[in-house]
Amino acid sequence: MMTDTLPTDAAQSDRNEAARAILIANDRGGYTVPTAGLYPYQWNWDSAFASLGFAEFDISRAWQEIETLFSGQWDSGMVPHILFHKPDPGYFPGPDVWGCAGPIPSSGITQPPVALSFATRLLRADPEFGKDRFAALFSKMRAWGEWFLKWRRDEKGAIFVVHPWESGRDNAPDWDDAMSGIDPQDVGFYERRDTQHVDASMRPTKYDYDRYIWLVQRAKRLGWDDAAMAEDNPFRVADPTMHFILLRGMRDLLAAGEELGLDTDGLAGQIAELEAGAESLWNPGMGFYDSYNCNNGIWSNALTNASFLCWFAGLSSPHMETHLQRVLDAAPYGVPSLAPFDPRFDAKRYWRGPTWGMMNMMIGEGATEQGFALGEEVRKRTREVISKYGFVEYFDPMTGEAAGGKAFTWTAAVWLAWAGKEG
Ligand code: DGY
Repeated sequence: MMTDTLPTDAAQSDRNEAARAILIANDRGGYTVPTAGLYPYQWNWDSAFASLGFAEFDISRAWQEIETLFSGQWDSGMVPHILFHKPDPGYFPGPDVWGCAGPIPSSGITQPPVALSFATRLLRADPEFGKDRFAALFSKMRAWGEWFLKWRRDEKGAIFVVHPWESGRDNAPDWDDAMSGIDPQDVGFYERRDTQHVDASMRPTKYDYDRYIWLVQRAKRLGWDDAAMAEDNPFRVADPTMHFILLRGMRDLLAAGEELGLDTDGLAGQIAELEAGAESLWNPGMGFYDSYNCNNGIWSNALTNASFLCWFAGLSSPHMETHLQRVLDAAPYGVPSLAPFDPRFDAKRYWRGPTWGMMNMMIGEGATEQGFALGEEVRKRTREVISKYGFVEYFDPMTGEAAGGKAFTWTAAVWLAWAGKEG
C-alpha cells in the first residue's frame, strides 16, 4: 500500500488531537452522539467505540459512557439501540414513534453488544481503577447476554435480528429477502430526516425506509412485548454481526469475571452453545459465514464485513483468510461492507459497499489474534484512508472518498485506539 501517504510525526500528533477534539465536541455530558445533526442521541454500539477513544485520554469518562448506556437497560435485560436523553426534533424516528416505556425514552430494539467486550478492555487498560466499575456493571452485562439467548436465538442456535437497525448494518443485502416479504402499504406518511443531513445516494432507499418504519409500527402495536413480537414475526434474520460480537462479549465477560472473582455461573455453557450455534452461520454453498432468513432458511449469499467477524469471536476459520485476501485485492481502502464482485455492491451506499473503520478494527484485531498477517494490513489501510479523507462515517472502498456524516465519533475513536497507533 501507498505508505508514503501515511502521516508524518507532526501530522500524526495533529490527527490525534483532531480525533480527541471530535470526541469532546460530540460529548453531551456523560454520553457521546455519533455525530451532530444526523445522529443526535446516544447510540448503543457507537457509544461502546466512543468509550475506547476516551480510554486513550480519560479513563473515567470512558467508563461513564458505558454506565450511561446501561442506565437505559430494560427490566428484560435488553439494552436499547438509541437512548433519547434529550428531545431533538431534527431526528426521525424519535421517541414518540417508538413509544417505549424503558427507564429512559428509547428505541425498542437493541444493537450488537460490543460494549461487553469494550468494558473488559477498559478494565484491562487500568485494572485497579476499573475493577469496581466493571463489577458494578457485571450482572447488567450478563442480563443483556442472557436476553439475547432467550429472545434472539433461532432453532439452530444462531442469533438473529428483528430489524435491520438492530444489526447496525441497516441496508446490507442480508435483509433483502426478509424485507421483500413485507408489504408496507399501511405505513402512512412520515418525513425522513437523514437525507436532509447526508446525500440520498449514500443512504438507504425509500423502499427500505418504508419497511424500517413498518417494523417499528408493528412492534409498537404489540407493546414491545418480546413474546408477542416473536409470534409470526415476518423479520427474523440470523446475523453474523450479532452472533460473533455476542460470542466475543461472553468470552470476555467470563475471563474478566473469573479474574475478579465474580459470579460466572453458567457463562461457560452459554459460550459453548454460541460456539455450536456459529456453525449454522456457515453457508456451505458459498464457503463463508453468511446470514439467512430464519423464516424460510434462504441464505443471503453475501460476503460482507460481518462475515469476517468470526475471528473477533475467537473462531480460527482459516478459510475466511482467503476470502479476506480476495476482497482486499478488489478494494484498496479497507474491508468493504459487501464484496465488490457481488452484483449488489454499491460503493457509496452505506452498508452495501463502503468500508467502515469500526468494522475494520474488529476484523483486523481478530485476524491478528488468530495470527493472520492480513490483520495488520487491514489496520494500515484503515489508517491510510482516515489519514487522507478524515474522520467521516464511512468511505468508498474503491477510491477512499469520504461518505456519510462528518466528524464521526467512532471513526475518531478507532483512530485513537487502533488505526492511528504507531505500529
Ligand atoms: C438511522 O436512523 O438511520 C439509524 O441507523 C437507526 O439506528
